[in-house]
Amino acid sequence: MMRAALASTGSDLRFQRPSFIATPPVNDGARPITQDDEAVRPFLKWVGGKRAILPALSAHAPRAFRRYHEPFVGGGALFFHLSRLGSLPHGAALSDNNERLVRAYKGVRDRVEDVIRHVGSYPHDKTFYLEMRDRPVDSFSDAEVAAWLIYVNRTEYNGLYHVNQQNRFNVPFGDYENPRICDPENLRACSRALSRADIRCEPFDVVAERAERGDFVYFDPPYVPLSSTSSFTSYTASGFGLSHQQKLVAVARSLKARGVHVLLSNSSAPLVRELYKDGFSTHEVRVARSVNSRGDGRGKIVELLMK
Ligand SMILES: C[S@@+](CC[C@H](N)C(=O)[O-])C[C@H]1O[C@@H](n2cnc3c(N)ncnc32)[C@H](O)[C@@H]1O
Repeated sequence: MMRAALASTGSDLRFQRPSFIATPPVNDGARPITQDDEAVRPFLKWVGGKRAILPALSAHAPRAFRRYHEPFVGGGALFFHLSRLGSLPHGAALSDNNERLVRAYKGVRDRVEDVIRHVGSYPHDKTFYLEMRDRPVDSFSDAEVAAWLIYVNRTEYNGLYHVNQQNRFNVPFGDYENPRICDPENLRACSRALSRADIRCEPFDVVAERAERGDFVYFDPPYVPLSSTSSFTSYTASGFGLSHQQKLVAVARSLKARGVHVLLSNSSAPLVRELYKDGFSTHEVRVARSVNSRGDGRGKIVELLMK
């Protein structure tokens, strides 16, 4: 399974107002979701991270919704963006099928000071990285899993998440000059943003049982490889093949039929256009990608949003 990313960290004390929970609903149609007024950013760099297309995602998000669901949460770029805007007064349900990632989210939500203490004590050093990479992380606490994942994510090569057949993390050391490994203020901001989130390790289709009329579900699955047509069968580096993509369309369609707001992102492969041609509107966005991307001379590729 290959997962990874592009993103950043950051901090802003303005987010520390005491009343995140009491924030009045601003996504009620009175205010468009474009105002970047609080700094809380993903605490991981994740492949396919959506920071680059946040303006387009915001433009296509519903103006009013109840609970927010993100069943392929990865780095959670849209979740943190909506949190920053105070647009999640009804809470959120975040899930992914990567158990270490999910445990890291729980660690940051529930034990952020422990996470900060651990990450802050890890040196930027190749020998230490190689030792960390091999630690039996699945027997650790959620806070230690979070610290482990943040550390390897910030110091490894290209922000990739790649494990071998034994689920052993095997990305080489990144050798970056001075990576920002620990950002305590942003981690605390992430913890506050996650404080009202239900976080689960589960396959994406479970959202169909949970989402209710008026909720908003954002699906950001592993993308269909760019060259894929209907003759594409199953293999992808992510393990997310044609049958998964077809199931995703079916889940999204049934949610729409029940009055749930749905937004999906995917590549601009011919297969994606075909899968979503009935019952969805499709919108193109141009995005700069540095991982698994095909340049077009200007370093940008076209991705698709469906709703
Ligand atoms: C493209 S990434 C999501 C990126 C994320 N939106 C962000 O902004 O960083 C896709 C995610 O889907 C997860 N995933 C892959 N197959 C899945 C499945 N069958 N069910 C749930 N999650 C899955 C991966 O672990 C990965 O975190």
